[in-house]
Amino acid sequence: MKKRSTLFVIITVLCLGISTPQQVSAIQNVSTDSESPVRITELRHPAKVDSVLALMTIEEKVGQLNMLSSGFAETGPTLSEEYRELIGESKVGAILNAHTVEHTLDLQRLAVEETRLGIPLLFAFDVIHGHRTIFPVPLAEASTWDPELIKQASRIAAEESAAAGLHWTFTPMVDISPDPRWGRIVESSGEDPLLNTEFGVARIEGFQGDDLNDLNTIMATAKHFAAYGEPKGGRDYNTVDMSERTLREVYLPPFKAAVKAGVSTFMTAFNEYDGVPATGSTFLFNQILRDEWGFNGFVVTDYTSIMEMMPHGFARDEAHAAELAINANVDMDMMSSIFLNELPGLLQEGIVAEEQVDMAVSRILDMKFELGLFDDPYRYSDYERESETIRREDFLDFALEVAEQSIVLLKNENNLLPLSKETEKIAVIGPLGDNKYDVMGSWSAAGEQSENVSLMEGLRNVLPSETDIKFMQGVPLSLDDHSTDGIEEAVELARESDVVVMALGEGRHMSGEAASRTTLNLPGAQHELLEAIHETGKPVVLILMAGRPLDLRWADDNISSIVNAFYLGSRTGDAIASVLFGDHNPGGKLTFSWPFNVGQIPNVYYHKNTGRPMDPDGHYTTKYLDAPNTPLYPFGYGLSYTTFEYSNLTISETEISDSGSLNVSVEVANTGERAGHEVVQLYTRKMVASVTQPVRLLRDFAKIYLEPGETQTIEFELAATDLTYLDQQLNPVLEPGVVKLFVGSNVEDTIEAKITIVEE
Ligand code: NOJ
Repeated sequence: MKKRSTLFVIITVLCLGISTPQQVSAIQNVSTDSESPVRITELRHPAKVDSVLALMTIEEKVGQLNMLSSGFAETGPTLSEEYRELIGESKVGAILNAHTVEHTLDLQRLAVEETRLGIPLLFAFDVIHGHRTIFPVPLAEASTWDPELIKQASRIAAEESAAAGLHWTFTPMVDISPDPRWGRIVESSGEDPLLNTEFGVARIEGFQGDDLNDLNTIMATAKHFAAYGEPKGGRDYNTVDMSERTLREVYLPPFKAAVKAGVSTFMTAFNEYDGVPATGSTFLFNQILRDEWGFNGFVVTDYTSIMEMMPHGFARDEAHAAELAINANVDMDMMSSIFLNELPGLLQEGIVAEEQVDMAVSRILDMKFELGLFDDPYRYSDYERESETIRREDFLDFALEVAEQSIVLLKNENNLLPLSKETEKIAVIGPLGDNKYDVMGSWSAAGEQSENVSLMEGLRNVLPSETDIKFMQGVPLSLDDHSTDGIEEAVELARESDVVVMALGEGRHMSGEAASRTTLNLPGAQHELLEAIHETGKPVVLILMAGRPLDLRWADDNISSIVNAFYLGSRTGDAIASVLFGDHNPGGKLTFSWPFNVGQIPNVYYHKNTGRPMDPDGHYTTKYLDAPNTPLYPFGYGLSYTTFEYSNLTISETEISDSGSLNVSVEVANTGERAGHEVVQLYTRKMVASVTQPVRLLRDFAKIYLEPGETQTIEFELAATDLTYLDQQLNPVLEPGVVKLFVGSNVEDTIEAKITIVEE
């Protein structure tokens, strides 16, 4: 290994500002015409970046484009000997899955002190919904309909992860997720473009803060670019085939907003779009991301996705794969080592231009400057800060608040809930009833099982010590194990109790990456367990924990109260207990249409009307013979322990020009006996257009809190430009004609008004 000698040279060069005009122009005068793959990026620190670039050999440059991974051991993250050597040879620019001060300090020392130039490493990790304090999974967080709350949760995750030596998280995932068979719906904000946009931006702002140089902020990543959320059959990594119209109108808006919000990095998607794997797509990365949107951060591939262009049948060999990716302005190679191995040869043969590689290196170095790593490569790795920050009491309290607000009450017949704290005997039955592992959900970063509050623990925390609470698992939590041996004993327990709380659902690895399903059944023998307990005649509350909607037809017909809890993270049990016993009045709302059955999927609320709209009496109309068209629970749905009434929908103008705007106001009254949250939702429908429009589209929403008897007037401002759509040539337009407005508490429960768009 070479000894460090040049970091000081670099720093001196920087301080003296010596970067020759030739070096600067090497990057800045690159052509942007469509023939040239190189896309100019406006660097934040151009002179500094050029100074470093000027000192680098081809091998060192290519090393910066290479990302490798730490492994996991009982004691924490580790790095293989082979990868350590590569760091010492300047062949690594970033490490993923590296965290903890101890581990990051160790690796950073290798990079800084043992290499010729001493360029610091970037440390990245999937801090998706919390680092060590675990928040609810993203689909649950979205059910809060409160982006500001989730921005704060992301701030906390940034504080914790930055204190554990990290510079970079691979979140937000802003893939629109219309298909719950696809396991990654759990990582999304549901099916709606506006919600994915708002939560994506909130997470970016939360992680990145105002200044990436601050020690409690880290880089965010908009992923996966693009269209990953609609694989055929809901099967992960499968082919995506959709019109450019759908891509642009539904799938791209959250990514575009991420660029506007200043996201530092983008990640490529595993899938192909229109026959081209995303990682080699000049359409996605050159044309849309760089040229149309002017993105100036860097692009990292998803795990080995450069290599995967070969099995896709797109790249002939590794060299070809490297060429395709770098020419699509994909800058960093996660885990393929193909850039590392192939780019030097491609440069030598003149197949790839050196400017192209320089641009990629520059974008990465630029972010290292932005994070302050050239000033002090160890600044994120501070033992004292780590121990003071991880799992701070206020972070855990905030995790409870987010968990409470994420819960969606699906059914509450005869107001069974909230339960009385005077209930004497409570049976908790089901494999998730005393579970501390699955409750973290997919991607739990540095979360530790032992630190989570199970449902049983949560109940004990809120109930008097004399309450008799007993737990029985009943059946295993498994897709394959259907054993019913424990059901009889569980039925016995139920018979002796006043109320049964059933905790059923999926294990955490049954959703997430590579976790697609063809049914939405309760895994294993949980359904049999539910039926058997129901037959006892005892009041049953079903708590559902899962990363996706499951088939609840039977439960909806038979079980009195159903609480959808997703996976709520560190404070799971406390949050559910506070809802069950009325300390928190649930106000979460679905951000997806809960399918009636799996055959309906995808069944998003923003579908078109068709030429033969559903008519129950008309045989030749669009419908199923064996299921309704409507979902079991509609988009935006969620009950409360109180009731809300909507009235006086007023619009300030009935006609607006295509550049005008109007106010929409509505009165919402709490007509029940408890204070509670309501999410007021505004949808529109353009009745006639040169390209048919969806029957509803969410335009705005407001989350409010009303005391019993209180009425609030909610106002939305709607600009005509918010209502544009793409014409037949894919240009934004708003043609004259009627637009209906719908305001209400979910997409099916609204009051309406209408306006007319007129020529200016
Ligand atoms: C693969 C996943 O698709 C991506 O979302 C994640 O960030 C990377 N692995 C790194 O863990």
